[in-house]
Amino acid sequence: MCGIYGFIGEGKVEELINGLKKLEYRGYDSAGIAFAKDGTLVVEKHTGKVDELRDFISNDLKDKIRAGIAHTRWATHGVPNDVNAHPQTDCTNKIAVVHNGIIENFSALRAQLQAEGHKFTSQTDTEVVAHLVEKYFEGDLLEAVRKAILDLEGTYAIGVLHADVEDEIIFARKKSPLVLTADGERSFCASDVTPLLSKNREVVFLEDGQIARLKAGTFEIFESSGKKVQPTSKYIEWSEKDAEKGGYKHFMLKEIHEEPRVLSDALVGRIKDDEVYLKELEGWEDYLKSVDKINVIACGTSYHAGLVFKYFFESLRPFNIEVEVSSEYRYRNVLIDDKTLTVAISQSGETADTLESVRLVKSRGGKVLAISNVVGSTLTREADKTIYINAGPEISVASTKAYIGQLVVLYLLALYLEKINGHDHKEIVQNVSKLPQLADNFIISSADKIENAAEKYVGYSNFMYIGRGINFPSALEGALKLKEISYTNAVGYQAGELKHGPIALLDEKFPVMAIAVDDKLREKMISNILETKARNAHVVAILTKGDESTAKIVDDAIFLPQLPDYLYPFLIGTTFQLFAYHVANGRNLNIDMPRNLAKSVTVE
Ligand code: F6R
Repeated sequence: MCGIYGFIGEGKVEELINGLKKLEYRGYDSAGIAFAKDGTLVVEKHTGKVDELRDFISNDLKDKIRAGIAHTRWATHGVPNDVNAHPQTDCTNKIAVVHNGIIENFSALRAQLQAEGHKFTSQTDTEVVAHLVEKYFEGDLLEAVRKAILDLEGTYAIGVLHADVEDEIIFARKKSPLVLTADGERSFCASDVTPLLSKNREVVFLEDGQIARLKAGTFEIFESSGKKVQPTSKYIEWSEKDAEKGGYKHFMLKEIHEEPRVLSDALVGRIKDDEVYLKELEGWEDYLKSVDKINVIACGTSYHAGLVFKYFFESLRPFNIEVEVSSEYRYRNVLIDDKTLTVAISQSGETADTLESVRLVKSRGGKVLAISNVVGSTLTREADKTIYINAGPEISVASTKAYIGQLVVLYLLALYLEKINGHDHKEIVQNVSKLPQLADNFIISSADKIENAAEKYVGYSNFMYIGRGINFPSALEGALKLKEISYTNAVGYQAGELKHGPIALLDEKFPVMAIAVDDKLREKMISNILETKARNAHVVAILTKGDESTAKIVDDAIFLPQLPDYLYPFLIGTTFQLFAYHVANGRNLNIDMPRNLAKSVTVE
């Protein structure tokens, strides 16, 4: 949440805006930049999106600067307005600070600094950092930041610029990511890799507690004790093009259309002769044989992927799997023994609650396997092992292709655990390996039909998604997708739960999305559909091709090909993503940046 960007070396003000643009999906309540001009600190900040800031400072964009820091905000402390936008400054108006995260002891620090004579102008927790740096600054900016962060409790990624210190900018992190790179003449730091891809794909991830000093073309890293450390770099495979819209109206639509490629990239090298190979799990064979319980932890869409995993694995053999949202799991008194495997799913690898759950598991001696999309993210560094989904950068705030990538990797994991335990599922492996083609055919043949169906439902304020068995998590995910981007009050239920309360909601203004594909629970689903029709609800049904009898009793049908039960969640996932997209598009909403949300929830 929130985006940080900064550079040092010859450049233009525009560079800061361009960097921020690529981070805007991290937060977009307000945006701001700071740079020094002839010993004077210039701060420009504005409520709203980065383009509004760009218009606001349009006359200055070509100005040459030696260094700058920039921020796009997702408000935590203080309403989104110009004053609370970052950068925040100190009393001398020489120091500018950008910050991601939450300073938990900011009230105490603020009171203490006020008692010492510091004057505050904003409601933000960030402003205390600017005043602390001012307090400790005696000519050495690195040292002042080092002392300031020793006073901070909570989470932070900060960038600091001093108008009198021309040749360096400082960054520091604790539990909120920062990535560094240099291109020979300039050095850059950002809260994720996307704005760095065009600079140099050899990057360094700052570790917790570390401080970076950037000079033109180089950077150094220090521990909080002041001891210098040798950075280790990582090469990022993603290209700059991966993070662009490529002709689509929105990133979300582009990312949905990438799903066949995502499936293929997630599978590549992992299936051979109808067997699953996960080289990431090498050395764990004996441990995995002994595992008798799997705890899955994740949030939001990743949690829904975890639920599908549970149903899929149980369809292979009875197994003890618990799936829990991380924000609950981390406060539970869970039993973790040496036969428990914890699987932490996070597209970004930076979700605060998932990371805290992982730390809980590790503090109790448990082993953690991460499923993530972001190379070098905090989760992947803290987990014992990681399987990457290789989906490429996901820019749209609503997760789409990463969900499909998570599903397929989780299927591979289940099949690999089966293989390790001597259970052979050749036919299932074969079917999983056909997913890229299946998804491709489906998108080509059905995208327009889904769009047509969605257009009829643009005007509704409510929606209920229902499913059973392995398709129940898809109901949750479909409802989440619709509510987050179209602001429809969408809810997901196990269809069997309808009679226990939710059916009271239904009438002609409350449509139902029912998953009634040709699986072992189809008949039960048809009964549920009839119950909803009896309450005058409009029903859109996801059916298997050829099911004309069910198509006759519903208002709209979207057909999927005949598939083994366990493959339906993939195509249903894509269907619901497209449906939500077209409802939101029909309402002309800002689909890639829905209100109140941000990519990567790095605060609790
Ligand atoms: C919904 C969505 C969120 C994320 C959730 C977890 O479309 O994107 O629900 O799935 O915030 O994020 P990660 O997977 O990065 O931990």
